[in-house]
Amino acid sequence: MGKGELYMQLEEQARGLLEGERDPIANAANFSALIWQTLPDINWAGFYFRKAGWLVLGPFQGKPACTRLQMGLGVCGAAARQAKTLIVPDVHKFDGHVACDEASNSELVVPLMKHSFVIGVLDLDSPSFDRFDREDAKGLEALAQLWLLHSDDLS
Ligand code: SME
Repeated sequence: MGKGELYMQLEEQARGLLEGERDPIANAANFSALIWQTLPDINWAGFYFRKAGWLVLGPFQGKPACTRLQMGLGVCGAAARQAKTLIVPDVHKFDGHVACDEASNSELVVPLMKHSFVIGVLDLDSPSFDRFDREDAKGLEALAQLWLLHSDDLS
């Protein structure tokens, strides 16, 4: 199956999971599980939510991770600060990268934007170098958008 088809399937399944549920944590938990079981070659997939200048760990799949990341620091912090999706082919070359799982070699981070404000990030790690491309970014941005539209605000 090609990547495009994979992401179309993922989006369809995600829509199904969101039906009748607007709780942001419940939906984020299911999204992490869905991404984890669908996408090949990833070792971490999950959410960080912005709280008082920090990105605090949310629902995820993979090894236990850093609970707090500083805004502006590391790949997640940079994506949140810049309000921009970041594709990092080699995390070891990224200034300030925060190594939660030493098996991670590449990373994709999508900011979660509500009314032009970054409320968190969706983060994926891979043990392979150069695992993520623009197609992955597009697919994950669409998923992030679905989560944002169909979930209530975080309290
Ligand atoms: N590597 C990330 C930290 C989060 S973990 O990958 C789960 C970063 O540099 O922001």
